[in-house]
Amino acid sequence: MDGLGHLDAELAKLRSADLLRQRRTPLPLTTLVLCSNDYLGFASEPPSMDDASAPSGAGASRLVCGEHPQHRQLEQAVAEWLQTEAALVFSSGYAANVGTLSALCQPGDVIVSDELNHASIIDGCRLSGATLRVVPHLDAAAVELALAESRSARRRWVVTESYFSMDGNTPELATVHELCQAHDATLIVDEAHAVGVFGAAGRGLCQLAGVVPDVLIGTFSKAVGLQGAFVAGKKTLCEWLWNCARPFVFSTGVSPWLAEATTRRIEQVAAADDRREKLQAITARFRDELTALAAPIAPSHGPIVPWLAGKPQEVVALSQRLLERGIFVSPIRPPTVPLDGSRLRFTLNAHLTFKRLDWAVEVLGSELARQ
Ligand SMILES: Cc1ncc(COP(=O)(O)O)c(C=O)c1O
Repeated sequence: MDGLGHLDAELAKLRSADLLRQRRTPLPLTTLVLCSNDYLGFASEPPSMDDASAPSGAGASRLVCGEHPQHRQLEQAVAEWLQTEAALVFSSGYAANVGTLSALCQPGDVIVSDELNHASIIDGCRLSGATLRVVPHLDAAAVELALAESRSARRRWVVTESYFSMDGNTPELATVHELCQAHDATLIVDEAHAVGVFGAAGRGLCQLAGVVPDVLIGTFSKAVGLQGAFVAGKKTLCEWLWNCARPFVFSTGVSPWLAEATTRRIEQVAAADDRREKLQAITARFRDELTALAAPIAPSHGPIVPWLAGKPQEVVALSQRLLERGIFVSPIRPPTVPLDGSRLRFTLNAHLTFKRLDWAVEVLGSELARQ
């Protein structure tokens, strides 16, 4: 008997719903990629590390014997950059969210979570065993109601992204923060797509809104252009996570070599106002031009521009036609977005030239004219 024989039928089901994801062959170098999270253009550059002396691997969990000076240096650099007391480095943003939520929240708690929060937040909430109150997207009144209705909970938590990865929009962070204060709830903010991109020195949207969340989660895999993630906040938070965040405790420490590269990169990212300004200018032009074309873009700000393109098969077909013309924008389909939310999600970056951008808009315009 083939113990996995049923998977053929399951895959066929995904295929017939246009929801099957397949590996792509590498794109030709000339393709204009408009869907990576390399907002500042750092990921496409080699790290300048000729003089690196750090070991390539940590060798073990940091709790065993995998602790290296480069880890502490990186955590100090993050804390200084984001002006928090401390930070703890995780191997990915996914691990940071799952580890943090499952270590902090417990059965008997209530977590108020935006309906469009990232899968890693959802998984962390589920793993925690806390009661989940999912609220409509960006709805501060619903957050307030959920908090008011959960007064008897052991503890209350509010978790949100600061810049939603599929929608390019932002909650009223100051209001949500005030609600947390008023209702004695703890605020967890995932700034994965905001750190490096927004605010003074790229410190993110919380900083821009004058909000200090209890827990700030960010990743090095997007604007920082490397890999790994961090949780920043009080020293006691980091000590708790060091002890109780299972993806941290039971996983090898991140590569000290990578930690050193990341520390250096953070310095570059903090100083990259020129790239942030260019990104802002590119983004404003793209949005203005698409608006003038009456393209079906959703209200958004910053470098993420969602183009609502209909049913999954329509989104796949549009993505394929664009690819044939030299532009790659990956189709985003359920379960990454809600059932009726298939889209092309354009993400812009600071390496784009206005000339290439205008050409891309021209191609998109001709696609609209064809519909
Ligand atoms: C909002 C959000 N949080 C966390 C993550 C996970 O980060 P990483 O890619 O570093 O695992 C992502 C990645 O797409 C994300 O969009």
